[in-house]
Amino acid sequence: MKNIILKDVKVRFKEHLALDILALEIGNSVKLAVTGESGSGKSTLLNILCLLEEINHGKIFWNNKRVDTLTQMQKDKFRYDNVGLVMQDFYLYPGLSALQNVLLPLKFRYFKIPKQFFDRAVYLLKRLNITQHSKNIDIFSRGEKQRIAIARALINSPKVIIADEPTASLDAQNSAEAVKLLLSLADETKSALICATHDKILIKQLTYRLELKKGGKIEACFT
Ligand SMILES: Nc1ncnc2c1ncn2[C@@H]1O[C@H](COP(=O)(O)OP(=O)(O)OP(=O)(O)O)[C@@H](O)[C@H]1O
Ligand SMILES: [Mg+2]
Repeated sequence: MKNIILKDVKVRFKEHLALDILALEIGNSVKLAVTGESGSGKSTLLNILCLLEEINHGKIFWNNKRVDTLTQMQKDKFRYDNVGLVMQDFYLYPGLSALQNVLLPLKFRYFKIPKQFFDRAVYLLKRLNITQHSKNIDIFSRGEKQRIAIARALINSPKVIIADEPTASLDAQNSAEAVKLLLSLADETKSALICATHDKILIKQLTYRLELKKGGKIEACFT
């Protein structure tokens, strides 16, 4: 994936203009922190980057291909193929085990999930300090769920990792391990890493920072 480009993109919720982007470019392998006060549009920006949220105006290109005009099904496939996503509210699937949750994105691809992915899932969970991977997801703590969501985002070695407050529920030690894993796996696969975060330690370790302001216009290039 070479880059993501947004041109003249606006997102409105009723009358409220939540995002106003004149131009934004995010290059291959870039590590970017998206910061700003609550309500400044961080989650909205991440959601439109990975085509989860519709835009009201403008264009989004991934590697020179226009993607905001894809059909819903094409968008979903595109996201599964290219993006590892850690959402602010995790969106883990109730009733399944930690391991099954990590492997869930692969269900869309494989009739029978190849063994190498089981090994990778167990490896990622172990690195994130989750050893009881066959336990039901519902009984893990919030911090554990956050780490399981991170493992799920990384299972498919995505070209772009998008993480919304990935360390928000973690203590210092688990936060450090999660950040280390996100950074090292992004390096291994030369993936871009885009994190919405208030975490000063995480911000320091990312190369670039985009600070959002309520009602502000965005014009930035990170390559
Ligand atoms: N689905 C929605 N419907 C209506 N308004 C929304 C919706 N999603 C976001 N907004 C509004 O858009 C603005 C930006 O919200 P967003 O969640 O992107 O902020 P944020 O920077 O991620 O905040 P936080 O730090 O609290 O997570 C807010 O004013 C919010 O109320
Ligand atoms: Mg948010």
